[in-house]
Amino acid sequence: MKQAEIKQFGLENLKVIEVPDPKNLGPTDVLVRLRAASLNYRDSLVVEGKYNPKFPLPLVPCSDGAGDVVDIGKDVTEWKVGDKVLLTFAPKWIAKEATHAEIRHTIGGPLPGTLRELAIVPETGLVRMPHHLNYEEAATLPCAALTAWSGLFGYSQLKPGEFVVVQGTGGVSIFALQFAKLMGAKVILTSSSDDKLERGKTLGADYLINYKEIKDWGKEVRNITNKVGADHIIEVGGAGTLEQSIAACRPFGVIHLIGILAGRSGEINLLPAVMNNLKIQGLVVGGRKAFIEMNQAIEQSGLKPIVDKVFPLEKSVEAIQYLRSGSHFGKIVITI
Ligand SMILES: NC(=O)c1ccc[n+]([C@@H]2O[C@H](COP(=O)([O-])OP(=O)(O)OC[C@H]3O[C@@H](n4cnc5c(N)ncnc54)[C@H](OP(=O)(O)O)[C@@H]3O)[C@@H](O)[C@H]2O)c1
Repeated sequence: MKQAEIKQFGLENLKVIEVPDPKNLGPTDVLVRLRAASLNYRDSLVVEGKYNPKFPLPLVPCSDGAGDVVDIGKDVTEWKVGDKVLLTFAPKWIAKEATHAEIRHTIGGPLPGTLRELAIVPETGLVRMPHHLNYEEAATLPCAALTAWSGLFGYSQLKPGEFVVVQGTGGVSIFALQFAKLMGAKVILTSSSDDKLERGKTLGADYLINYKEIKDWGKEVRNITNKVGADHIIEVGGAGTLEQSIAACRPFGVIHLIGILAGRSGEINLLPAVMNNLKIQGLVVGGRKAFIEMNQAIEQSGLKPIVDKVFPLEKSVEAIQYLRSGSHFGKIVITI
């Protein structure tokens, strides 16, 4: 079978090679023929050795994957050959809470990732693909969509009419926008690009802020919300944007601390967060049960993920370069 792997860290080392098909299907294992993978910012860091330089090499990158069941172990009860499935990000993470080990046991590092034709997966490391999506669309769900879902509906409960600030137009953020609109919330979208803001408007964003032009966007959010502040902030910038998020958040509101695109450390004035009883909720993806719940909502609502561009496996390097350029809107997909 074909797979893309790195023998050493560095994007220049990502190569598509032929390897023997995986063997030794355990009694509760499932063999999946992967059809599509999608990229997350994490994958770019993993390939460079910046996510965790201790990840074992060689490594098949990428954690999102969609495909078909092609064989099952003798004790598998939940799956049959031909089922369309998605791999879960952390195959041992089932319920809402998990141990440190379960959260860290993730595909695309340290476990082999999804840029390969065949993968052996424990039967509990899979969920059913929403029926109305194709492989490319469904492959966007395991990491970015579930992260946005866990923030808004797992660790807090978004309500209709609430204000959600969505930072930027990458994978997590566009799912947060779509979920917030499904719930009847009001979305304040920020972006470095007026064109992307206009695209966000077509998805239902109610207010648009160019964060390159309006550096003090926290104040702008307060103006939009009649000086109250937003109920939820989708924080993908991290240390570089947290002060603005704190300024944008209403008393007792929630900052969903998801990403570090604008820095992982820095000097931040936390006093306004204390004085306004803010909840700063760190979160990573989510477990299998939340994934199943999210897929039910996606299926019932007919939500379609926004796929910006699709690359073939042989162009995985170009796909990651495109992610790094930040020109995308939504998700980037690799077909396998
Ligand atoms: N905790 C978790 O479980 C989890 C899961 C997934 C991702 N993440 C993290 O969340 C972040 C986003 O991931 P992703 O996969 O969605 O990334 P992505 O698709 O690469 O998103 C890139 C976009 O983020 C926006 N952005 C960059 N810097 C920004 C800033 N200073 N302020 C506001 N927006 C900014 C830009 O949007 P514009 O071009 O519109 O300006 C950029 O195009 C990453 O740090 C990633 O590691 C965490």
